Amino acid sequence: MDTELHLERLPRTVELVRGARGDYELVYVDQRKLPGELVFARASDWRATVDAIKTLAVRGAPAIGVAGGAAVALWAAEEARRFVRGERLDRAERLASLEEASDVIVNARPTAVNLFWAVSRATEIARMLIEGGVDEPRAAEHLYEYAKCLEAADEDVNRAIGENGAALLEPNSRILTHCNAGSLATAFYGTALGVVYAAAAEGKVARVYADETRPVGQGARLTAWELARVGVPVTLICDNMAASLMARGEVDAVVVGADRIAANGDTANKIGTYGVAVLARHHGIPFYVAAPTNTIDPDVADGAGIPIEERAPSEVTAHPLEGVDVWNPAFDVTPAALITAIITECGVLDAQNCYTELRERQERGGSECASSIVRIRSSGSM
Ligand code: MRU
Repeated sequence: MDTELHLERLPRTVELVRGARGDYELVYVDQRKLPGELVFARASDWRATVDAIKTLAVRGAPAIGVAGGAAVALWAAEEARRFVRGERLDRAERLASLEEASDVIVNARPTAVNLFWAVSRATEIARMLIEGGVDEPRAAEHLYEYAKCLEAADEDVNRAIGENGAALLEPNSRILTHCNAGSLATAFYGTALGVVYAAAAEGKVARVYADETRPVGQGARLTAWELARVGVPVTLICDNMAASLMARGEVDAVVVGADRIAANGDTANKIGTYGVAVLARHHGIPFYVAAPTNTIDPDVADGAGIPIEERAPSEVTAHPLEGVDVWNPAFDVTPAALITAIITECGVLDAQNCYTELRERQERGGSECASSIVRIRSSGSM
């Protein structure tokens, strides 16, 4: 099926830019306002960036990673302003200020390991600059460049995931997805929807079914908006309709994103993903996870070790109900055994051996994983 794609209609989700006075600002799509309004908001300091992440104005694992890296650059810009005003800190004071900010940024949300990945790298660079005696304005420049690299790498990685995933799909595929793992969840292009865009460019996508994704509605508000804007045929369904759709034979593949993948392939993603995986297995439908390799967390052995964020009851209840408790976990864990494959920028991995396979590919030095951003387990080799 020929689909004319309009990726140019998608905004850049998070972008660090230089402001009028040479300072940096994070320009981001305020996703709380979609689909009603496309609003670009600005965070001129790291605290405002943390706030945007906490409130889901910026959301999606890769996007919060990129925003987290930018927050460290914004911290550095603040330090540079102090320096210019003549406030001089010694090395120990600069390091203490860094650790304090970095700790708040990294803890903005607990489940997506991409946030931890990006912030810990940016923090390490900042630490090395301070210890090397680099002054605040020059350190801020380096961290700005690093944040821009994170943005660019995110798009490159997503496009590679898209190519690798498209090769798995048959012509005229009807794809079901949950939550939003699209361009809005990344700097640009998307992971699960990156697969859709690459496959649609090859004429392989008949339609995408977007789960509404209660309670926050990332599917209804964001995935449906994004796909329609690009021109991919999309049908919105309530979460409880996926089983019937599959039973009618109308789903050929499920493709979702991930917030954290344990070393054994167990995968945390938006609440409800696990249920979709169970349904897909029952109906014999392939269930793919599309994610960059930095979503694989080798320090977590299996899904039981993944921290699951619990959010406010107000996201679930339209009206507060006296005497009623609310449980609102933002993510669930899909066991690796239910995952057909994990699609990464380094190729397609067997879920249950994802980390071992990735390490083998890296050690072989194959071109397919030249761009790998996998973390090496902090406690040594596996
Ligand atoms: O709470 P959110 O909206 O940040 O949750 C996002 C998801 O669960 C996505 O599916 C995941 O981060 C992958 S995004 C490429």
